[in-house]
Amino acid sequence: MDKLRITGGRPLEGAVRISGAKNAALPVMAATLLAPGVHRLRNVPRLRDTQTFARVLELLGARVSFEGNLLTIDTLGVNSVEAPYELVKTMRASIYVLGPLLARFGRAKVSLPGGCAWGPRPVNLHLSGLQAMGAALDIEHGYIVGRDVKLRGAHIGFDVVSVGATAQLMMAAVLAQGTTVLENVALEPDVTVLGEVLVACGARIDGLGTRRLTIQGVGTLRPIDTTIIPDRIEAATFAAAAATTRGTIRLEGVVPDHFEVVLRKLEEAGCTLQRGTDSVTVSGPQRPRAVNVVTQPFPGFPTDMQAQTIAVCALADGTSVIEDTIYFDRFTHVPELARMGARIELKANVAVVKGVDRLYGAQVMATDLRASASLVIAALAAEGETLIDRIYHLDRGYETLEKKFSALGARIQRVS
Ligand code: EPZ
Repeated sequence: MDKLRITGGRPLEGAVRISGAKNAALPVMAATLLAPGVHRLRNVPRLRDTQTFARVLELLGARVSFEGNLLTIDTLGVNSVEAPYELVKTMRASIYVLGPLLARFGRAKVSLPGGCAWGPRPVNLHLSGLQAMGAALDIEHGYIVGRDVKLRGAHIGFDVVSVGATAQLMMAAVLAQGTTVLENVALEPDVTVLGEVLVACGARIDGLGTRRLTIQGVGTLRPIDTTIIPDRIEAATFAAAAATTRGTIRLEGVVPDHFEVVLRKLEEAGCTLQRGTDSVTVSGPQRPRAVNVVTQPFPGFPTDMQAQTIAVCALADGTSVIEDTIYFDRFTHVPELARMGARIELKANVAVVKGVDRLYGAQVMATDLRASASLVIAALAAEGETLIDRIYHLDRGYETLEKKFSALGARIQRVS
């Protein structure tokens, strides 16, 4: 199993081009099922997760090809409605095919995703929303099964802001009979962009960028040629690495507004920033200042940056309090950072981080995508060598991460 060997203590310098966003690419890949034909998606990151999703689409009968970061998906020949457990268990986002399959074929058999490294991740909002749209769904042997479904418009209010459920019901509603109103929807850029892509395919959606969407069902949609937005979480991850290594990194090909809340928090921690239209230069301080963070749905502070921010605060001058309101138990990185000398006390969904003036290299284990990114950021600042095991987690969401860091002067290599 691949590992990363990192020797820390060197300031990172230079520019890095940010890849396309995983969390924007996946729902757009699912949306191609709604419009039979050849779709071209540009700037799609080559990741384990986009490869897995391509595999799901192929099993449904689509023809999929990757050339560099251009993904071509031909959904004309889709002839199956089954997404198997073997694939869905490796990537929850596979559930995104459920709405489109029900909308296009009136049938679907999609495995329930199950939990993940940090606990249960329910899909009740996906299912109750589809049921409100008239889908009779049964759970059979771990599969969500829909037969003879005719989706019709409905008025649905989400108790919890959910990226996944918003995307799912948007995709179900665009071909449904009548009008659907979705209240308290997610505003993450990935969701808004999905809406824009669906509109470009011929869908009728009002209210994008607001918490209330009105979707008028249409008869058919046409294939799309689109470019995936840059990954704000990848960009913010590199920014955090500048903060821990006293480095200066220019993030290229970004939309600064998409991660502005993180940039402001890094400024509070002592970083200096130069914002451009599609670039941001981040310079880390001699030593970060302690900051407090509460994660929230967009435009609040992203939970996907909680772990990396804890790594910054582990080296801060003072005590930081980091609360995750989205995932209460997304702290599997904490004991691993403690192996490197971090002082973090966990109380339910709150981490109290007493900053130390240095971290030390150690053997640590990645447990999920963002937790592994926090270990990389800590290791780049630590004294000595760190060996990070199970980096397949990183490969799920970061494209050629070690190459990008090594180009910034990091001493990092993949070893097996
Ligand atoms: C998306 O997950 C992202 N994944 C996650 O990023 C991200 O952490 C999350 O949004 C929050 O920003 C993708 O886009 C593929 P949610 P998703 O539905 O859609 C509860 C990464 O690191 N909920 O917005 O699964 C849920 O338990 C990944 O790239 C229900 O209760 O998240 C959570 O507390 C990890 N019932 C909250 O809502 C439901 O049916 C937000 O979850 C659905 C969600």
